Amino acid sequence: MMLPMSDPSWTAVDEHLEAALLPADPELDAALADARAAGLPPIDVSPAQGALLQVLALAIGASRVLEVGTLGGYSTMWLARALPAGGRLVSLEIEQRHADVAGSNLRRAGLAGRVEIRVGPAATSLEAMVAAGEEPFDFVFLDADKPSNALYYALARQLTRLGSVIVVDNVVRGGAVADGDSTDPAVIGSRAVLEAMGSDAGVRASAVQTVGRKGYDGFAVAVVTA
Ligand code: SAH
Ligand code: DHB
Ligand code: MG
Repeated sequence: MMLPMSDPSWTAVDEHLEAALLPADPELDAALADARAAGLPPIDVSPAQGALLQVLALAIGASRVLEVGTLGGYSTMWLARALPAGGRLVSLEIEQRHADVAGSNLRRAGLAGRVEIRVGPAATSLEAMVAAGEEPFDFVFLDADKPSNALYYALARQLTRLGSVIVVDNVVRGGAVADGDSTDPAVIGSRAVLEAMGSDAGVRASAVQTVGRKGYDGFAVAVVTA
């Protein structure tokens, strides 16, 4: 089955939504520019997606945010800007080079004081956080290596409380998520995390397909209810 992976109108609509809804933010623009200049892959959330993460974090009054997959800190910045005074964001990243770019982007934006980037395999960091009995997070954004998403979900769930919101990026993969015969590890990972969310009696979850400047993909969102 061939699915359209991009269409010029998707980008045009994103540009319109950005112009209509998003405040000008030179530090966010500079963060993206520096990530590209450093050769980081262009897989940051789109501006409208970053703003949606911020809206969700603000809606629940999140003061502790956990991110898995920092890259150049673009989504980190959107989420960190949602924090109240005294709020904290922990972002997990395996690549020191990515963490360095993110750190410089966060410093320029005045956000470094409320963000901690922990460098290492996310599963190891999450296990250590669970073992240490780290305080729960109000908002979790899973956006690292897709094959590990079900593992990250299971670990991150142990770091949540009633009312916490968990967002998982890239669960639709150009429509490939519907293909149960797929051998693509990212698709298998997406299917596994959706299965984990759907069979978790302690959450209500949904997912939406999205199109935009990054193509055809989607988010899953869960709220902890028990
Ligand atoms: N959230 C970012 C994009 C993240 S891209 C944004 O929207 O701006 C995915 C990131 O996950 C990359 O930086 C990659 O290095 C990191 N990553 C990949 N495997 C990982 C692992 N096992 N542990 C932690 N981070 C990982
Ligand atoms: C990829 C990763 C992402 O987090 C994303 O949003 C888009 C693409 C990727 O690895 O291809
Ligand atoms: Mg992503």
